[in-house]
Amino acid sequence: MLTGKRILLIIGGGISAYKSLDLIRKLRERGAAVTPVLTGAATEFVTSLSVAALSGSKVYGELFDLTAEAEMGHIQLSRSADLVVVAPATADLMAKMAHGLANDLASTLLLATDTPVLVAPAMNVRMWDHAATQRNIATLADDGVAFVGPNEGDMACGEFGPGRMAEPLEIVAAVEAKLSDGPLKGKRVLITSGPTHEPIDPVRYIANRSSGAQGTALANALSALGADVVFVTGPADVAPPSGVEVIAVQTAQQMLEAVQTALPADVAIFAAAVADWRVEGASDRKLKKTKDGLPTLTFAENPDILAHVSQLKTGRPALVVGFAAETNDVEANATAKLKRKGCDWIVANDVSPETGIMGGSENDVAIISQAGVEEWPRMSKDMVSRKLAQRIAEAIA
Ligand code: CTP
Repeated sequence: MLTGKRILLIIGGGISAYKSLDLIRKLRERGAAVTPVLTGAATEFVTSLSVAALSGSKVYGELFDLTAEAEMGHIQLSRSADLVVVAPATADLMAKMAHGLANDLASTLLLATDTPVLVAPAMNVRMWDHAATQRNIATLADDGVAFVGPNEGDMACGEFGPGRMAEPLEIVAAVEAKLSDGPLKGKRVLITSGPTHEPIDPVRYIANRSSGAQGTALANALSALGADVVFVTGPADVAPPSGVEVIAVQTAQQMLEAVQTALPADVAIFAAAVADWRVEGASDRKLKKTKDGLPTLTFAENPDILAHVSQLKTGRPALVVGFAAETNDVEANATAKLKRKGCDWIVANDVSPETGIMGGSENDVAIISQAGVEEWPRMSKDMVSRKLAQRIAEAIA
């Protein structure tokens, strides 16, 4: 619920502005008060009248509006909310934010505000992929701006790819996570998730069956308890969590680098199914069939990211949690892993094909720590995540 929370909603000029009308309704249904601001371009897509009717509030638009300035100055407006939400955030608006421009009311409020900012980008896929946009996003993430979406899919412009604004319910979930007064508020949690892809050549790779479902569910559960989550993910089947910082990687080596960049953190959870080996000297050209016989692949060992972080001399997170995917002697193997890697807890599970756990929606885990082994009954990956998030909150409170 968002009872009593005040949201300053900046609506940018994009076709997905129509979804922001539904967003206003959904935020108000949950008890939030919404003060809307329309950029000049936004008024081409939605009218002030519909925004005013749905929000039940005055709609702000012009920077030099004497009446508005007399009622509430723009600086005061920028500080009068618990959260500033920008939806849709166009490439132009994010570029202004990243560079500190303030030439209209929306950008001025974003520069003047001292409240947290959540951004829901929406744009054409090429604009999203453009190096300039990606640079701006990295700058904004560094500045502490939170993101929700964009999603991948068909776009109004007829193209396909990332760039669609997150759905109103996803934005609401991100707002709730951001405003949560949960027990993990102010704690930074790093999570690795999904498989890694280790290239053989530019078109082939070695992978595993991890879907990323458990890591994603865990990120959502921790975020709902108020944690600031950094989510480092390999190429997973499931969509990444909403409202958290997502860093996408392909290989184990890239995952290690992303983890090192994302540290320090209060808690680190390693749910990724990292490939233990990579192909040494992967070819930069596609391997061709030859008359000389079959190709030979030579392997090199990948860095063990969990062991590396567990054994850090300085800057080790207060709680380091690993997962153990086993097909036999689960407890014995997982207990040995806890010792060998030096982490605090191991979440052990049996991933034999007959369990249906890898790639499925349920999990059957045991939590192994210095204190011993605690068996949990089989339950959904969502439920495992909520229970684990609660445990983590208790452990680092
Ligand atoms: N892990 C990691 N980096 C690796 C390998 C594993 O961070 N290179 C982490 C996983 O994210 C997980 C834990 O270590 O939290 C155990 O992963 P698992 O694949 O079960 O264990 P391995 O170390 O690969 O051991 P084994 O192959 O002997 O089962």
